[in-house]
Amino acid sequence: MNNKDMYILGIESSCDETSASIVKNGTEEIATVISSQIDIHKDYGGVVPEIASRHHVKNITIVLEECLTKANMTMDDIDAIAITYGPGLIGSLLIGLEAAKTLAWLYQKPLIPVHHIAGHIYANSLVRPLQFPLLALVVSGGHTELVEMTKHYKFKKLGGTLDDAIGECYDKVARVIGLEYPGGPKVDKLAQVGKDSYKLPIPLHDDSYNFSFSGLKSAVINLAHNIEQRGEELNKEDLATSFQNVAVESVVSKTKKAIEDKNIKYLIVAGGVAANKGLRTAIEKLAQDENIEVSIPPMKYCTDNATMIAAAGYYAYLDGRIADLTLNSTSSANLE
Ligand code: KG4
Ligand code: ZN
Repeated sequence: MNNKDMYILGIESSCDETSASIVKNGTEEIATVISSQIDIHKDYGGVVPEIASRHHVKNITIVLEECLTKANMTMDDIDAIAITYGPGLIGSLLIGLEAAKTLAWLYQKPLIPVHHIAGHIYANSLVRPLQFPLLALVVSGGHTELVEMTKHYKFKKLGGTLDDAIGECYDKVARVIGLEYPGGPKVDKLAQVGKDSYKLPIPLHDDSYNFSFSGLKSAVINLAHNIEQRGEELNKEDLATSFQNVAVESVVSKTKKAIEDKNIKYLIVAGGVAANKGLRTAIEKLAQDENIEVSIPPMKYCTDNATMIAAAGYYAYLDGRIADLTLNSTSSANLE
């Protein structure tokens, strides 16, 4: 091992994935283990926080051991531990945090606090180096945010959702159509074959960088309800297409505004909804129109994982962000 190399163990447990990963110098994935609870929460139509916490407790040591084994490393080979401290489900976050603090104390390693959104953004550094100034559009089950960065680990949140996240809205629409959780990818698939025949309101069509999805969600629920009451049949494909067009347009128009206002040349799209075909097509077109570069990490780095936390942890460490054992989890941390 080169002395200058830094191996960071990342831990992520903010929602329903228990994950550990070892990343070299913030860019090279050595080993990752992700234990997903999707099959457990599917029966409830969404993540149940209490159940999620219990599964994190059950999984965390197994995931950590598996990750070290996969990397053929021991804790002696690890230089620092990066942990998602927030935002997320508080019970879930605390399990990862306690594991990270215990390891940091036991093996006397630096403890690096990582904001979950910083992780989603730095997922990109596993694919290619970040270029500044950049704009990051983070779209996931818990977040819809536009973040500007002028250098490493300097974040300026331009806007975010005022209510529901885009992924959350996708999952709700899926439920209305009768699709299983997480329904985002299934709605996306239907949207490829339907027609834009239902009229839905474009949310928060204003001058801000903010988003709103609760009105759109309610509009879809009401529409489906009215159709049912009239004894007519809902065309699921058409509803998926109509919804997707509006959801994507709302996100893309605010992104366009930020690119133009801030003279951005490099755009990152991150988070689970970055997998969305409609969004990808619209973003590619936007990048062409605006003559900017765009980077969307591969799917395995888009959904929640500890690789992105270890990657972000490296740059957080270089920025001097070391926590002591009083570090606490917080469900609604600001990205700063
Ligand atoms: O980033 P992620 O794994 O978790 C959070 O941090 O929230 O994102 C999961 C979300 C879910 O809401 C899921 O339905 C949505 O991403 N999603 C999609 C697609 N793939 C995943 N939504 C729309 N279209 C997709 N193709
Ligand atoms: Zn996430």
